[in-house]
Amino acid sequence: MSKQAIIIDCDPGQDDAINLLLAMSSPDEIDILGITAVAGNVPLARTERNARLMCDIAGRSDIPVYAGCARPMVRDLVTAEKVHGRTGIDGVEITEPVLPLQEQNAVDFIVDTLRAADDETITLVPTGPLTNIATAITKAPDILPKVKEIVLMGGAMRESGNHSPSAEFNILVDPQAADIVFKCGRPITQMGLDVSHQVLSTRERIDRIKKIDNQAAQATVGMLDFFNRHDTKKYNYVGAPLHDPCTVAYLLRPDIFEGKLCNVSIETQSELTMGNTAVDFWHVTDRPRNTNWIHAVDADAFYELLTSHLARFDK
Ligand code: RIB
Ligand code: CA
Repeated sequence: MSKQAIIIDCDPGQDDAINLLLAMSSPDEIDILGITAVAGNVPLARTERNARLMCDIAGRSDIPVYAGCARPMVRDLVTAEKVHGRTGIDGVEITEPVLPLQEQNAVDFIVDTLRAADDETITLVPTGPLTNIATAITKAPDILPKVKEIVLMGGAMRESGNHSPSAEFNILVDPQAADIVFKCGRPITQMGLDVSHQVLSTRERIDRIKKIDNQAAQATVGMLDFFNRHDTKKYNYVGAPLHDPCTVAYLLRPDIFEGKLCNVSIETQSELTMGNTAVDFWHVTDRPRNTNWIHAVDADAFYELLTSHLARFDK
């Protein structure tokens, strides 16, 4: 597999943070051009700080981190401290990051980086609300041909919703942004709740990571222990769904996932179903099949991948 050039756009969040560690553990497979932070799980000042902290933990001071949009395009910001804790990454010690924040705004970084690239060479990996991505596309539609693929975490079909009865958090926070992204015309691979609810961070899986004697693995254990407390009660699951790492795991091992090309459209009008991702799984409409809807994963292979990659870090 040739090295993949990516931009990760995120709202750390424990699962975003673990996704960053997974990506940063794979320098031979993944070239992270930059990490862009967006408001979501917690406000922007904490999501950008948390992203920089993960770069410190991973020893990846070579990766620039940018702060982007502090609120959705139209709606008011909704955050999820009840899931992630006040810091956004409760479970790890919060210190002032060594890695400085880049001066440039994340949206301008995305635009400039894509403008300087060849066609179809950069993969966007958003794991939070799609505000930064949609704002960049709106500001500079000429960047779209440079996007190879968008591999995102968000939405749901059979799993209905986790922040309303019919919407998943990332899409619900900024449905207008999601609508722009799903209509942008570039290939999308979507990791919704239907697949993330298949990769549960069980005690046995956490204990295997706990055996790894390095900072990244121990930070992952601390974050998973905290992350488990809310979702195991909410869903009566044996572990919390590890949503965002499905994106980078897909980049590394697409063979452990199963998808189907479908139309996915976003509800932006009804308050009752705002942010719903309408997945035309059975092709009952003639809407364009814009999304590789991922609906299955080999969960054991997923955790084997995560565990083996976390073991790659030095102490
Ligand atoms: O609904 C799960 C998603 O919302 C994940 O990306 C999590 O980090 C939160 O952003
Ligand atoms: Ca996230």
